[in-house]
Amino acid sequence: MPLLLGVNIDHIATLRQARYARSPQAHNAEPSPLVAAFDALAGGADSLTVHVRSDRRHMQDADALQIRAELPLPLNFEMGVTAEMLAFARQLKPDFACLVPENRAEITTEGGLNVVGNFGSTLDAVTQLQDNGIRVSLFIDPDLPQVEAAARCGASMIELHTGAFANASDDLREFEIARLAAAARAAHAAGLQVNAGHGINYSNISHLWALPYLAELNIGHSIVARALRVGLTQAVRDMQQLMATYPPHVQ
Ligand code: PXP
Repeated sequence: MPLLLGVNIDHIATLRQARYARSPQAHNAEPSPLVAAFDALAGGADSLTVHVRSDRRHMQDADALQIRAELPLPLNFEMGVTAEMLAFARQLKPDFACLVPENRAEITTEGGLNVVGNFGSTLDAVTQLQDNGIRVSLFIDPDLPQVEAAARCGASMIELHTGAFANASDDLREFEIARLAAAARAAHAAGLQVNAGHGINYSNISHLWALPYLAELNIGHSIVARALRVGLTQAVRDMQQLMATYPPHVQ
């Protein structure tokens, strides 16, 4: 199976909100997440990720609904575990939902979901979403108890938080890779699909090739940053070209 690329286009909305926060759907509000979604499709994105945060700081409900209605690509909805977002997910009907922790003060999703510490609420959310035909992924740090709890919740996928790996200095990178690899092995053994994301860019991605069982990477910031120079379609194409070098693992 080729390694799939989910493109997170939240930052397109971040830029639009910088100018048009009061009228994000106005006819002159740009850049458009919908246009960006089509550009990502043209570059070979395998799926799109949008995160509607409770403070609506980037993607708006209308953006997600429009992308869902118009894009012929699987939609991954990143969401906090709240009654509001569970209700919106039932309306949006994405293909996948990725449950993430959400903290208003953070700039981006900072840590993984604490499934161990919030087992009951996570289990409820997973059950509700899956009962509505939505496959669920849990965004977790590469810690074995979290992997084990994700499996017990009945989720079908985990997304391993690669932020610590991405931020690690050269001497700590191997340690972070080893943690990610151990979590990937445990998740696979428990029957979970293994995705990964956060802070992955064009230069650090090849270090992840030490990880077995990767099915999908979710990447946003580095692709949108590169898009400023080469355009979004080309930026996605360039990332896909790198991802095609993910080696087969002897398993
Ligand atoms: N996966 C999850 C769960 C995230 O919260 C984010 C950031 O929104 C990403 C992947 C993408 O991270 P980045 O923008 O650093 O590529």
